[in-house]
Amino acid sequence: MQFPLKFSITLVYLCLLSITTESQPTHLFNICPNSTTYTRNSTFQSNLNILLSSLTSNATLNSYAVTNGFYYSNASSSNPTETAYGLFLCRGDVSASTCQDCVTFAASNITHYCPVRKEATIWYEQCFLRYSNESFFSIADTSPSFVMCNTNNVSEPERFNDLLGATMNDTATRASNAPRRFSAKKANFTAFQTLYSLVQCTPDLSSFDCNRCLLETISYLPQYCGGKQGGRLVGRSCNVRYEMYPFYDETAAAALDPPPPPVSPPPPASPGSVPTEKGKSGVSSVKIIAIVAPVVVSVLLFVMGYCFITRRSKKKSGVVQEETGVHDITTVKSLQFDFKTIEAATNSFSDDNKLGEGGFGEVYKGTLPMGQEIAVKRLSRSSGQGAEEFMNEMVLVAKLQHRNLVRLLGFCLEGEEKILVYEFVPNKSLDYFLFDPEKQGQLNWSTRYKIIGGVARGILYLHEDSRLRIIHRDLKCSNILLDGDMNPKVSDFGMARIFGVDQTQASTNRIVGTYGYMSPEYLMRGQFSLKSDVYSFGVLILEIITGKKNSSFYQTYGATNLLSHAWKHWRDGAPLELLDPILRDSYSRNEVIRCIHIGLLCVQEDPADRPTLATIVLMLNSYSATLPLPQEPAFLSHTRTGSTESSMPTKGLVPDQSTIKSTASSVDDSSITEVYPR
Ligand SMILES: *[C@@H]1O[C@H](CO)[C@@H](O)[C@H](O)[C@H]1NC(C)=O
Ligand SMILES: *[C@@H]1O[C@H](CO)[C@@H](O)[C@H](O)[C@H]1NC(C)=O
Ligand SMILES: *[C@@H]1O[C@H](CO)[C@@H](O)[C@H](O)[C@H]1NC(C)=O
Ligand SMILES: *[C@@H]1O[C@H](CO)[C@@H](O)[C@H](O)[C@H]1NC(C)=O
Ligand SMILES: *[C@@H]1O[C@H](CO)[C@@H](O)[C@H](O)[C@H]1NC(C)=O
Ligand SMILES: *[C@@H]1O[C@H](CO)[C@@H](O)[C@H](O)[C@H]1NC(C)=O
Ligand SMILES: *[C@@H]1O[C@H](CO)[C@@H](O)[C@H](O)[C@H]1NC(C)=O
Ligand SMILES: *[C@@H]1O[C@H](CO)[C@@H](O)[C@H](O)[C@H]1NC(C)=O
Ligand SMILES: *[C@@H]1O[C@H](CO)[C@@H](O)[C@H](O)[C@H]1NC(C)=O
Repeated sequence: MQFPLKFSITLVYLCLLSITTESQPTHLFNICPNSTTYTRNSTFQSNLNILLSSLTSNATLNSYAVTNGFYYSNASSSNPTETAYGLFLCRGDVSASTCQDCVTFAASNITHYCPVRKEATIWYEQCFLRYSNESFFSIADTSPSFVMCNTNNVSEPERFNDLLGATMNDTATRASNAPRRFSAKKANFTAFQTLYSLVQCTPDLSSFDCNRCLLETISYLPQYCGGKQGGRLVGRSCNVRYEMYPFYDETAAAALDPPPPPVSPPPPASPGSVPTEKGKSGVSSVKIIAIVAPVVVSVLLFVMGYCFITRRSKKKSGVVQEETGVHDITTVKSLQFDFKTIEAATNSFSDDNKLGEGGFGEVYKGTLPMGQEIAVKRLSRSSGQGAEEFMNEMVLVAKLQHRNLVRLLGFCLEGEEKILVYEFVPNKSLDYFLFDPEKQGQLNWSTRYKIIGGVARGILYLHEDSRLRIIHRDLKCSNILLDGDMNPKVSDFGMARIFGVDQTQASTNRIVGTYGYMSPEYLMRGQFSLKSDVYSFGVLILEIITGKKNSSFYQTYGATNLLSHAWKHWRDGAPLELLDPILRDSYSRNEVIRCIHIGLLCVQEDPADRPTLATIVLMLNSYSATLPLPQEPAFLSHTRTGSTESSMPTKGLVPDQSTIKSTASSVDDSSITEVYPR
């Protein structure tokens, strides 16, 4: 038995603790997107320093913040865009002194682990600290950031899973209703084995959001750590953990569980708290598997299938109202531009200012009196909506903010004129570079790879992370704009909404979109779904890799086209031959093949076979994910009639469990399993 051994380690630990009095917090993980760097000695840096010292100084013994294990703060100077926002959260059961130590440590180490970042999160066993240049208070980020699994197997996986699910659910319910949004609970598994569970949200979340975050996170546990004796999924808004040994301080945890007592400092470190440290230090050889790359705020949403979509869309109105919460300053008024202002900004829509012509109208460059550059889209068709509906729609779409989406700044509605005002993105669109032999060379492989990843994250946000569920429906190279650093920004999203096409209906008579990018089910039957965007994204990936247009395919039905070209090379085991010749000198073989693989998965005929954007983002970020084999792309076997295909079992709505699972179970690059044809 391990118990005597465990106990002696415990004792050793105790002695050490009492001598050094300072227990070094155990670093677990950090996320610091490279893309968000600030310049040294900037205002932001000084605000960040103020923020971090404010967090530290609030984490002093006996302070209100530390007895609650949570504090949120911001530091700003005259320029509000340079504000630094931050919080710390200590695990509910740790003592005030442990919390203090951990926060102090985290605040001093976060700038070492994440130098010059505008946003960063660092996790320790006992606490975590997060800061950003954007306010995130009270906003639930339900996607887990990393996962750790105990490597030991449980004896009866099925019975264990049932017990785990029920226990976790119960713990989540209690935590969501507890003021500190924390709960820990144990349950008997066998006569000798006890299951210990612990869940926690940041206390700024509403009870509803906390529960939502926890349930979503818990739902991933079986995929990642199924059949294992322990596991945790940790995100920025909530985290869950279970083990078969007491990894938390039971006394302290019990004191917090309902009925919650009036706030009192948790007891100082007692022998019971020591296994906490030990849980990490050996017995269960825990491994960390990062499941998101830095920039990705969300990876794993949408594993719940279409029924959830429907449920959500029903809930939508309620959810939208909920948005009028903490930092909602977006109103119709703040978005409305005067027609005169727009006219002046664009030099009366002069041809010199014309940037291009899109499906929905002409686009002009403009300059506002304060010097801000804007892009102005003058809608050519009537939107089919009344003015009020239109304005409501604008308010919603203006709230969609993501670094890979072009930001809508406002609109103008006067008489017949309907005008949208966007941020100006300097580098034109992707097609401008990609399909021009002279300019192709400016897109080297790492830029193209960055673009693929950025577009995926932008669409994932539209599909999943924003509180609206937006299907783009016209994804193509000319709708991918590039900023000064060649970061992609998806444009023209929400047009279906603005044009008053019901997003929740399953099919439409009015097909928007562009030939060559439209999925077969959309083109032939007018059916659209998130998976039609996935199809377009697949075409986009293949175009980016090959530098060739998938053009006029539908007129030359069955003839050679990009998809069949790609498929043939793939089938023949020569995917690299697809690569744009201009890239031949410098590329990452792994990345290229992976992208082609993902591209082909996206253009499969059966929408159910196509991965979701969440899965795609995961696939792009994880070299150890095993991808399923693609089926022949849509339209290649054109003798099929589109609609008979639906007799296939509806697999894949809960997408690619196998993929996710194998990601979790392979822990380092040595276990990369990539499956390629032949
Ligand atoms: C991010 O930074 C790490 C380490 O500094 C580096 O290895 C990695 O290539 C960077 N990623 C990008 C996309 O710049
Ligand atoms: C935060 O920083 C990012 C990256 O530099 C930037 O894109 C974003 O606009 C900033 N947000 C605010 C509110 O300033
Ligand atoms: C930042 O400020 C410090 C001290 O004021 C100075 O030594 C350093 O050179 C500055 N760094 C930059 C990049 O300006
Ligand atoms: C937190 O710190 C700030 C400045 O460091 C201080 O003004 C404030 O009173 C502190 N708040 C608490 C709750 O201790
Ligand atoms: C920063 O915090 C103060 C109180 O600490 C609050 O009044 C202010 O609104 C906050 N600023 C922002 C931009 O959230
Ligand atoms: C973390 O902080 C401690 C004490 O503040 C320091 O000794 C240690 O070197 C830091 N580690 C890193 C990686 O920055
Ligand atoms: C756990 O079970 C899997 C198969 O289900 C096996 O491959 C693995 O070696 C087992 N691990 C341990 C630690 O027993
Ligand atoms: C846990 O709760 C979720 C959502 O309410 C539910 O779908 C699931 O079946 C529950 N699991 C167990 C084991 O009770
Ligand atoms: C677990 O079993 C012990 C004794 O076997 C019992 O005293 C205890 O009440 C049980 N706990 C739960 C939560 O069922």
